[in-house]
Amino acid sequence: MDRNQNISDLEARFQSLSAAEGLRLIAELFPGKVVFSTSLGQEDQVITQLIASHKLPIQIFSLDTGRLFPETLDLLSRTEAKYRTRIQVYYPTTSSVESLVSQIGINGFYESVENRKSCCFVRKVEPLKRALAGNEIWITGLRAEQSANRSDMKRIEWDASNEIIKYNPLMDWTYDQMIAYINENKIPYNSLHDQGFISIGCAPCTRAILPGEDARAGRWWWEDSKKECGLHAR
Ligand code: ADX
Ligand code: SF4
Repeated sequence: MDRNQNISDLEARFQSLSAAEGLRLIAELFPGKVVFSTSLGQEDQVITQLIASHKLPIQIFSLDTGRLFPETLDLLSRTEAKYRTRIQVYYPTTSSVESLVSQIGINGFYESVENRKSCCFVRKVEPLKRALAGNEIWITGLRAEQSANRSDMKRIEWDASNEIIKYNPLMDWTYDQMIAYINENKIPYNSLHDQGFISIGCAPCTRAILPGEDARAGRWWWEDSKKECGLHAR
């Protein structure tokens, strides 16, 4: 059976499952080969709570770009304590950051989309490849509602750039559903959400949004681009 067939069979099988059921099944189908990437966003906090409360054998990791908000690192620490778990943290390669900064300057990402993508590559995309190496399933907190670019994503997808199957258990969740789940389950969240931030990435590249603005309007707000960093290249 070819890979496309396998992916669509998996997609059909997972379509009727809840996020909790899907996480349990994926861990059973690919033992020791399932990892979950958390940016400590609200979606990711829901998935961490599901993995921890069901004691699923899924490694949780985060990419610390070196430019995150202190509030995000504080949440990482609070999450580890609450769920008695360790989140494995990956860092960019020192020599790559040194070379990038010497070429574009410490905040050179504001100057062009090309510079910004180089920074995202060094600080996120390359460390992600190391985190995914040797695994078969990559779980993310992507939701279709987050942006037009994400509206046609599926629960199960083949990620050609990382050669791995991606599982997005919250793909069909609405924002309101996610917030209700966080409140009901007293899930810790980033204090910046109470200051108008919705989608949170690196500090210099994220601002709060105004009522009525698109959820991702605060990311790379000075750019007129698709507002993706390359982690979820398609
Ligand atoms: S991004 O591409 O714009 O940065 P976004 O912040 O929406 O992504 O997050 C979408 C998903 O990508 C998250 O649910 C998480 O799985 C993954 N992700 C994004 N940033 C990180 C990070 N710094 N560390 C780990 N995973 C991340
Ligand atoms: Fe660099 Fe900004 Fe991308 Fe973070 S979001 S890696 S600081 S360009």
